[in-house]
Amino acid sequence: MTIADEINRLKKEKNAVILAHYYVNPEVQDIADYIGDSFYLSKVAVELTEQTIVFCGVSFMGESAKVLNPGKTVLMPDASADCAMAHMADTETIKKMREQYEDLAVVCYINSTAELKEHSDVCVTSANAVKIVRAMPNKNIFFIPDRNLAHFVAEQVPEKNFVYNEGYCPVHEKMSVAEIRKAKKMHPEAEVLSHPECPKAVLELSDYIGSTTGIIDYAGKSGSREFIICTENGVRHKLENDYPEKEFYFTETEPVCEDMKIITLEKILHVLKTGENEVRVSDERRENSRKPLERMLELAK
Ligand code: 13P
Ligand code: SF4
Repeated sequence: MTIADEINRLKKEKNAVILAHYYVNPEVQDIADYIGDSFYLSKVAVELTEQTIVFCGVSFMGESAKVLNPGKTVLMPDASADCAMAHMADTETIKKMREQYEDLAVVCYINSTAELKEHSDVCVTSANAVKIVRAMPNKNIFFIPDRNLAHFVAEQVPEKNFVYNEGYCPVHEKMSVAEIRKAKKMHPEAEVLSHPECPKAVLELSDYIGSTTGIIDYAGKSGSREFIICTENGVRHKLENDYPEKEFYFTETEPVCEDMKIITLEKILHVLKTGENEVRVSDERRENSRKPLERMLELAK
């Protein structure tokens, strides 16, 4: 019996379902029942019938799944898989901003801890941030933690007054403009598709900016045959599987989120067997952080 067979057998026996983000390793994507970007996975999480969710992603994803499904068991294949950006804001600054600005909405990128969500008015993902910020009744927006996504959204919603926070994704922040230019020189016909976590200088070179699902969908619909992909290299698996007639290039220094890559089939099997690495969120934190998440799901409809 292969490890994949064993996972599938245990999944049935334990009434479990596997969710995975596009940034995890190909073999983990292949074993998942649902694979997608952060928005898709949070929508899926509230519709599942299985009792146990194995979340192949970083800790804020498992935490959000638990907050939205308090009665379910959420297991993380590796409890140390974390998103550095999720910690790049603090509740003291949120409190200060609330005192300083009237009519302020704290808009929290889903890539954040449950503690930060607890102090926020609404959550967003890269797939729905523009729509949700536009729909907020408030004039002033304190956008946490990601400054790059905040600037990208602010440009498209000029009627709002943005207050920025200095967080960033270390993987997308490192994307090199020089390397993109070099790739463009080698593949002049290629369209540049970027994630809004990239710095402004990268977004300015891009033909399309969107979430990981947005990038994958755009590549499918576009008439172009070649693409330079400016996001984590895990998306290559889906792109190459779905569009074998097209070519996908990455920058020479391939963007890799090490936290996503530490998830393996062996670790999935282990937590299914043992029930280890269960996500726990206190009742109070769960109640408070559920509100901005549910508001996101409502406003994004
Ligand atoms: P999306 O899933 O919204 O594309 O965001 C990418 C990301 O960094 C997830 O951690
Ligand atoms: Fe966090 Fe960046 Fe990794 Fe996404 S790619 S999980 S934002 S560190």
